Amino acid sequence: MSVQIDHLLNESRRFAPTPEFSAQSAASPELYADAQADRLGFWSAQSRELLHWHKPFTKTLDWTNPPFAKWFEDGELNVAYNCLDRHVLAGNGDRVALHFEGEPGDSRDITYAELTAEVKRATNVLIKLGVKAGDRVAIYLPMIPEAVISMLAVARLGAVHSVIFGGFSAESLRSRIDDANAVLVITADGGFRKGRVSALKPAVDAALQSGDSSVENVLVVKRTGQDVEWNDRDLWWHDELASVDAEHEAEAFPAENPLFILYTSGTTGAPKGILHTSGGYLTQNAFTHKNVFDLKPETDVYWCTADVGWITGHSYVVYGPLANGATQVLFEGTPDSPHPGRWWEIIEKYKVSILYTAPTAIRTFMKLGRQIPQKFDLTSLRVLGSVGEPINPEAWMWYREVIGGNITPVVDTWWQTETGAIMVSALPGVTETKPGAAQVAIPGIAIDVLDDDGTHVGHGNGGLLVVTEPWPAMLRGIWGDPERFKETYWDKFEGTTGAKGGPLYFAGDGARLDDDGDIWLLGRVDDVMNVSGHRLSTAEIESSLVAHPLTAEAAVVGASDEVTGQAVVAFVVIKFSQAETASHEDINAVLRAHVAQQIGAIARPREIFIVDELPKTRSGKIMRRLLRDVAEGREVGDTSTLADTSVMQIISQKMK
Ligand code: PRX
Repeated sequence: MSVQIDHLLNESRRFAPTPEFSAQSAASPELYADAQADRLGFWSAQSRELLHWHKPFTKTLDWTNPPFAKWFEDGELNVAYNCLDRHVLAGNGDRVALHFEGEPGDSRDITYAELTAEVKRATNVLIKLGVKAGDRVAIYLPMIPEAVISMLAVARLGAVHSVIFGGFSAESLRSRIDDANAVLVITADGGFRKGRVSALKPAVDAALQSGDSSVENVLVVKRTGQDVEWNDRDLWWHDELASVDAEHEAEAFPAENPLFILYTSGTTGAPKGILHTSGGYLTQNAFTHKNVFDLKPETDVYWCTADVGWITGHSYVVYGPLANGATQVLFEGTPDSPHPGRWWEIIEKYKVSILYTAPTAIRTFMKLGRQIPQKFDLTSLRVLGSVGEPINPEAWMWYREVIGGNITPVVDTWWQTETGAIMVSALPGVTETKPGAAQVAIPGIAIDVLDDDGTHVGHGNGGLLVVTEPWPAMLRGIWGDPERFKETYWDKFEGTTGAKGGPLYFAGDGARLDDDGDIWLLGRVDDVMNVSGHRLSTAEIESSLVAHPLTAEAAVVGASDEVTGQAVVAFVVIKFSQAETASHEDINAVLRAHVAQQIGAIARPREIFIVDELPKTRSGKIMRRLLRDVAEGREVGDTSTLADTSVMQIISQKMK
């Protein structure tokens, strides 16, 4: 990390917007001025302009019971109507909503009229199956149109979706289904990945095997056509959609009606179910999607490469773009299959003009070399976005030069599952950009960088990133655990308050303000890792490792990795009784497979080191900092607080 910080401090390249771009950009400096003059007035004006309210709101924010906020509380809207029907009613039914590009090369264009019709039918299926407003529906699907359709159908009904990334295991699926008491699971027979068919339904069957779950039905989309086991509760998606009425009139729900739960890793224990609601969430998503990407819905082709299983997919594949009536690419596959130019081929094919992706992908492409993208016509691109982890200046420059033809603005967007929408980003056409910096809070968002005592750090200094005022897309809580919600995010700076007297939101990220006051993100300050832009918890992987009969103790660290940002590295102590009998290679393979099976392939450790003891303080706390030194091949830091100082010597010698 220290190398990276030095690098950032020396970064002096600047890119001013071209006058041509500024002349046409959606965003303008007035947005900042308006928000500055009247923050709540600004958000209520944006909400009225960007969304259709069945019943207009009269109140903007209720922050009388912090940290529980209510936005646009007395208004009523239907989220799916905002993403679908109103575009059709406005005469844009023929506009393509989704250019679906399947992994095997199949493709399908779906217009707003078609998408609306499909969602209406899917909603009628949910009603037929007894799903009601407020019920939870688990969605476990590949990146196919039915994923978007399912989410919108659930939203249309005022029910709550919980999308579980298709790469998660049966056990992860089970714990999420149970935590939310889901009544229905929507899945597929399987999906395509890197030229092969991979199964999904068996994981659902395994998750529901014990028979004591809240799930009443499983709706199965036929994607691959592979054989699947069939249970009484299972229904084919296509049969059900064909059997229901085509019409469905969207009902209005209160602005604070829950929209979805999305599980994300924290510092301790099981993943947290982050709860988002309707009106505020959709307002900030529509606003940021329009202004951060300079969206022109009539002419742009937008592509966000995230999977709908993550927050970026929720906010910037489904809700933001569809609320804005955008045309977008939905891609099922991976960047390198069947050839390493697949993404660039897609950009050429659909004339993609706005691309939103993660630094890890950019770094992978950098490694492969510019000759691959240079074989394709990428001149349609006019805005590039980055999200999920800090982007190093070299990757930012490469993105701009090689993908953006040395002219496109690059926006580095900082936000989180919890924030629901983009919080810190340059605005194209307005901001002079700096490679590697997320730079400025978006209009209407109040960000600060504080030291541990809650004092503003001042220009040129580093500290902790906080949000000082409530924001429309903020999480409304952790599903079923209000105490954990308070403790995790709002208690850190107790005693320090925002302008209106409320508590400060602690994001868990380190940040630095440069001499202009611009924000540079420096990574997590807690035990959350970021691997390829995906959040993983050290505690969760440790508890999976110790759940295995071979393991006595385990410590997991995120070690920096050139391509994935961080990589999972584990240190395990094997039970005495087992240590003699198995080889290190075997133990390694068994434990890596175990973690992949328990949590999902993304959590599989890159390396597992078998050690005799873990470095601990006298009070028994594992000193991960020292293990990170070892994992990153550095000289081990200060060991004076260890209970047994020799242990680090032994560990580092073993690693050599
Ligand atoms: O550490 C920050 C990092 O990703 C974390 C949030 O992860 P998640 O909830 O999975 O959401 C990712 C997509 C929004 C943050 O706490 N992060 C996200 N974007 C950036 C970032 N770090 C630096 N720069 C970013 N642009």
